[in-house]
Amino acid sequence: MNPVLRGVSLEIGSREYVSIVGASGSGKSTLLYLLGGLDRPTQVDAEGKAFDPPSRVYIHGADTQDLDDAALAALRNEQVGFVFQFHYLLKEFSAQENVALPMLKLGRLSRSGAMDRAAELLKQFQLGDKIRRPANRLSGGEQQRVAIARALANEPSVLLADEPTGNLDRKNSQRVVEIFAELSGKGQAIVMVTHDQALAQRAPRIITMEDGLILSDTSSGGGGGGDRETGRQGDRERMPVSYS
Ligand SMILES: Nc1ncnc2c1ncn2[C@@H]1O[C@H](COP(=O)(O)OP(=O)(O)O)[C@@H](O)[C@H]1O
Ligand SMILES: [Mg+2]
Repeated sequence: MNPVLRGVSLEIGSREYVSIVGASGSGKSTLLYLLGGLDRPTQVDAEGKAFDPPSRVYIHGADTQDLDDAALAALRNEQVGFVFQFHYLLKEFSAQENVALPMLKLGRLSRSGAMDRAAELLKQFQLGDKIRRPANRLSGGEQQRVAIARALANEPSVLLADEPTGNLDRKNSQRVVEIFAELSGKGQAIVMVTHDQALAQRAPRIITMEDGLILSDTSSGGGGGGDRETGRQGDRERMPVSYS
């Protein structure tokens, strides 16, 4: 079988907002899941020969190759927030409980501390009056905003989103776009996969993929970008995520 990604190398700076576009099957999700440690790069080709050089993924300074699955899962819970096309909330649990779960898993906050922070996050996304509602009794747009709150629970160094508006109507898509812009304005690093060109254009850096290749990687010039730091080449220890 042919490799899904070919010669791709990508570094995400600590305050960057990046969108990844490309046709279905071009490798966008694969790249995102590798970046976030949900998948690991294959280390050998179809003949069993080791890739040279091997693919490497760094997350928040850690070479994921050195981590076993449990350690990688723990790093992911702490440093990477995921938002998918489908919300994957625990449907019988309240919005607040869903958002508190990653914090309880991390164990830095007490149960009441986690529940308080969850309520705060939900208020930020205009869900203050729905915190006790079971996830399956929220609308699609509300569920996706709960999923975004959950992704941000542990203050991850990067938010990774795969077609986050793919299942939403226009109005709710717009709200998600506004939330991402706001988060980016506060310095949150974001990588968003989308095939919606208009949505992609909201990010200052746009990566286009085709057939497992990065076709282009363009940044709109500084103006208005504030103090956006881009990752310096080779400085992977300081970046939220990188793949090579
Ligand atoms: N786990 C996997 N193992 C092997 N091939 C895969 C795997 N996941 C996806 N693919 C293949 O990789 C290609 C890119 O898929 P994907 O990353 O899902 O693209 P996109 O998100 O851009 O639609 C497709 O040809 C798909 O069939
Ligand atoms: Mg995909």
